[in-house]
Amino acid sequence: MGEFSGKVAFITGAAHGQGRATALALAKEGANIAAFDVAKKIEYPAYEFGTSDELKSLKEEIESLGSKAVIFAGDVRDNDAVEAAVKGTIDAFGKIDILFNNAGICAYAKVHEMTDKEWDAMIDINLKGPFIVTRAAVKYMMEAKSGVIINNSSVMGLRGGNRLSHYTASKWGLTGLTKAWAIELAPYNIRVVSIHPTGVNTPMNDGLAAMEGKTPEEIAEASAGNLLPVPWIEPEDTANLVLYLASDKARYATGSQFVLDAGLLSV
Ligand SMILES: NC(=O)c1ccc[n+]([C@@H]2O[C@H](COP(=O)([O-])OP(=O)(O)OC[C@H]3O[C@@H](n4cnc5c(N)ncnc54)[C@H](O)[C@@H]3O)[C@@H](O)[C@H]2O)c1
Repeated sequence: MGEFSGKVAFITGAAHGQGRATALALAKEGANIAAFDVAKKIEYPAYEFGTSDELKSLKEEIESLGSKAVIFAGDVRDNDAVEAAVKGTIDAFGKIDILFNNAGICAYAKVHEMTDKEWDAMIDINLKGPFIVTRAAVKYMMEAKSGVIINNSSVMGLRGGNRLSHYTASKWGLTGLTKAWAIELAPYNIRVVSIHPTGVNTPMNDGLAAMEGKTPEEIAEASAGNLLPVPWIEPEDTANLVLYLASDKARYATGSQFVLDAGLLSV
């Protein structure tokens, strides 16, 4: 019996990176997983997104751990796709206990050069996406009078970022949503928290470096904010924090921001 046996987690951006690591960590502890990912390249930003092969291999890995998985290809901006995935999850597993709003994009642009398309994509995926997914999933949590929503913000949801104003705005927005939803949902025994990682060793990190014509190490050196002597943290570090926050050990944590930054915000 794992710590999350009998629980169901709905995870966006699950094909690779932090979403995948979290799906596997929860499945290892017995949770059944609904994995949602756009699973194809989108117009912006120009780095590698998750793929349908990654979604399929995730399902196989989860099943090899003894848990169950349903996978859905869809965009968090697409209300119909999100509603269908949430319904598919309820049909398969009967409930959603944990929602990890994790899907997100990042890219650099100076404010005077930023296009409407770049601004809109950033805000629509990183901020409106979690709203669309939460709107669809939370009604089942409200009926059950239980649940936890974990929003993957960033250290950029608590500070400013150079050439990252659209990303920073989206992530501060998610911090705000966390607090507002915590107020609204507490009477239903639903907790809402946000997490704030420093740079994480994922395809996003690699993609951003490539777009800058640099190695991930060079990007990490340029930002040089971590106090601990590491260029970045690993997706499994995020997963460990999510598992704690999703568990009863964090039963009175709501509305709060959980920083995982190797010390970056201390200076
Ligand atoms: N990598 C970092 O350094 C870092 C640091 C702090 C916070 N974050 C945040 O963590 C979250 C996960 O990032 P990651 O590092 O795993 O990134 P990643 O790019 O490696 O993985 C993101 C996953 O989300 C999916 N996705 C992207 N847009 C989507 C959409 N519109 N609809 C559905 N799925 C979509 C991608 O296909 C991909 O599988 C993001 O919200 C990101 O902003 C990342």
